[in-house]
Amino acid sequence: MNKSISGFSRLSKSEKINWIVDTYFSHNENAKNIIKQYWNTNEKLQKLHDEFIENTITNYYLPLGVAPNFLINGKVHTIPMAIEESSVVAAASKAAKFWFDRGGFKAEVISTIKIGQVHFNYHGNKEALHRFFNQVKPQLLEATKHITKNMQKRGGGILDIELRDKTADIDGYFQLHATFETLDAMGANFINSCLEEFAKTFKEQALTHPDFNDEEKHIEIIMSILSNYVPECLVRAEVSCPIEELTENNDINPDEFANKFVQAVNIAEVEPYRAVTHNKGVMNGIDAVVLATGNDFRAVEAGVHAYASKDGQYKSLTHAKIEQGQFTFWIEIPLALGTVGGLTSLHPLVKLSLELLHKPSAKELMQIVAVAGLAQNFAALRSLTTTGIQEGHMKMHLMNILNQFEATENEKKQLIKHFKNHTVTHSAVVEAIEKIRS
Ligand code: MEV
Repeated sequence: MNKSISGFSRLSKSEKINWIVDTYFSHNENAKNIIKQYWNTNEKLQKLHDEFIENTITNYYLPLGVAPNFLINGKVHTIPMAIEESSVVAAASKAAKFWFDRGGFKAEVISTIKIGQVHFNYHGNKEALHRFFNQVKPQLLEATKHITKNMQKRGGGILDIELRDKTADIDGYFQLHATFETLDAMGANFINSCLEEFAKTFKEQALTHPDFNDEEKHIEIIMSILSNYVPECLVRAEVSCPIEELTENNDINPDEFANKFVQAVNIAEVEPYRAVTHNKGVMNGIDAVVLATGNDFRAVEAGVHAYASKDGQYKSLTHAKIEQGQFTFWIEIPLALGTVGGLTSLHPLVKLSLELLHKPSAKELMQIVAVAGLAQNFAALRSLTTTGIQEGHMKMHLMNILNQFEATENEKKQLIKHFKNHTVTHSAVVEAIEKIRS
């Protein structure tokens, strides 16, 4: 067990599975059956998925659900969501319908700038470095022409390169800090390729720069990589209505609800323990759409949470106010997304999801995703400040518990009916199943 295996990546898929089953499952064929059960019978499709990553042994399914009735800037959308958590799609749909009847969501992209950096060490005269940088900057741009040509034709490319002195933080540490416009591409490959080209040219040119002494000539490149912190790739989405319209069939007192809602948001603005859970709810909506549309949810997560901490304390991503009887709830969030490149033309379900969204541009997708986050947060806060989260949550969770106990269709029907008038708890469901079965 504690021995390493060499050459694992060169084993065939079957050999890899055999090794796993023999090493970790005591040769148990059942483990092999579970793995194989998720293989797709369409060999071409399976091969496509096998080749997305390395050492693939099977597929890991996530449900793809849809939330209809999202009215965004006057256009109706049905939003695809890939997520394993029950209640999320239901909550999004409910919030979408609620705001559909109140003018819908307004969304706007504030900026679309992305960032990449070449991190390097230089020990020498700082003014000489600045002079060298100004001299070499056109050459850095020239050296990337073959990469930027097409992007430039479409109106994107490298926006600027700055030399940044970071020696106050680490002795000898400088950066080439570059900004990019990558249009409908998320742009990770584009940015990283440009950065590596900058690094190469910068290092090479330094070696022959006449102003540099021998030590200065040897610039040490540490690394070249895009940043997933994208505070200037920002989108805003909002909903607003007169307070009295916040009630549905007189189910709540609208004034009381509006005040409690704003207070709930304010709490997440000042209390990090609450802010993290509050934002987790936002990300339920964001990640599900990001995943369904083939975007990198880890990049989005990292960037969003860094943004939530931009003022030195982790805070709410959403904001709410009441002004002259008008309730307004909004989100401002950095989202670096793509609708071309990457998985977007490879994964059939990603393609389908983008088609469902009327083949959006990256800017349109930023708006849709921000709206999904705002809607999710609205639904969560509405439940939390009125009935409490567990009522709706446990109803949805009921199905998970029933599946866990392999309830038959007939048992499910009886128990769903039973729990329409009874509180769902794990033990109450178990008890009810046992009662039916005994
Ligand atoms: C659960 O996935 C998300 C919530 O906890 C979010 C929140 O508390 O705002 C309901």
